[in-house]
Amino acid sequence: MINLTSKKILVTGAASGIGCAVAQTCAKAGATVIATDRIDPSESTGLPAPHQHLVLDVTDAAKVESKIAKLGPLDGLVNAAGITGAGPVHTVELDVWRKVLEVNLTGAMLVSKQVITAMLESGRAGAIVNIASVYGMTGGPGNTPYNVSKSGVLHLTRCMAADYGAANIRVNVVSPGYIETPMTTMLDAEEMHEFRERFVAMHLLKRPGKPEEVAAAICFLLSDAASYITGANLAVDGGFTAAHLPI
Ligand SMILES: NC(=O)c1ccc[n+]([C@@H]2O[C@H](COP(=O)([O-])OP(=O)(O)OC[C@H]3O[C@@H](n4cnc5c(N)ncnc54)[C@H](O)[C@@H]3O)[C@@H](O)[C@H]2O)c1
Repeated sequence: MINLTSKKILVTGAASGIGCAVAQTCAKAGATVIATDRIDPSESTGLPAPHQHLVLDVTDAAKVESKIAKLGPLDGLVNAAGITGAGPVHTVELDVWRKVLEVNLTGAMLVSKQVITAMLESGRAGAIVNIASVYGMTGGPGNTPYNVSKSGVLHLTRCMAADYGAANIRVNVVSPGYIETPMTTMLDAEEMHEFRERFVAMHLLKRPGKPEEVAAAICFLLSDAASYITGANLAVDGGFTAAHLPI
């Protein structure tokens, strides 16, 4: 069982899916959680005080700065806020491209900037976990803005790990495969059935993952059990990236 007792951990994207599971798992492990999302996450997490809930759009630099400054020093951050954005380059809409990069990549950078500033000022050790995707590691058809944003998150993680290791701030990333959350419910549609079957089959464990399975890996990386791990990319993908299966 992971122990996060006496750690104060901020989670973005906590109103749904993986972020919500992270908030709940961190709380179960003893952390005090500040659950944030662009919409009020309190009903989704169901966490009572002393856990806090905050409406925070990760792309709003001024609000990110002012709201996080009020929280005082934090021990951990999970950047889980994310959106999808589809299209090959010749049809992609510029607004979609910009929005996906703004939320998935710039948003993670903006929140990290404020949390790291507070960690450096307090002299406390810290742990940050970003969420990329298997499609940050490999190319994939039809989802260029999303996939590119996630490869950016992988490299953002490595660069932050390099900059803050000496201050004992560890920065890691998890790369999930297909996880059943509201982000992926479109795969449940009748017309997506065949694609979904093939997609599931590309995962060695032959099933989609659950948000709690990603949250468990994230909580490990936040904890002192991962005290010598920084700059790492942990695939939580049911084996998706371990082998190229014939389709
Ligand atoms: N579900 C999957 O299969 C999968 C696979 C790989 C990676 N991921 C990544 O995991 C993370 C969580 O995804 P999920 O599947 O739980 O999706 P989700 O849609 O269930 O949750 C995403 C959350 O992010 C919030 N959000 C979106 N824009 C925001 C903004 N500007 N500011 C603050 N919050 C914002 C949403 O309100 C939502 O609550 C995302 O980064 C996603 O890209 C998911």
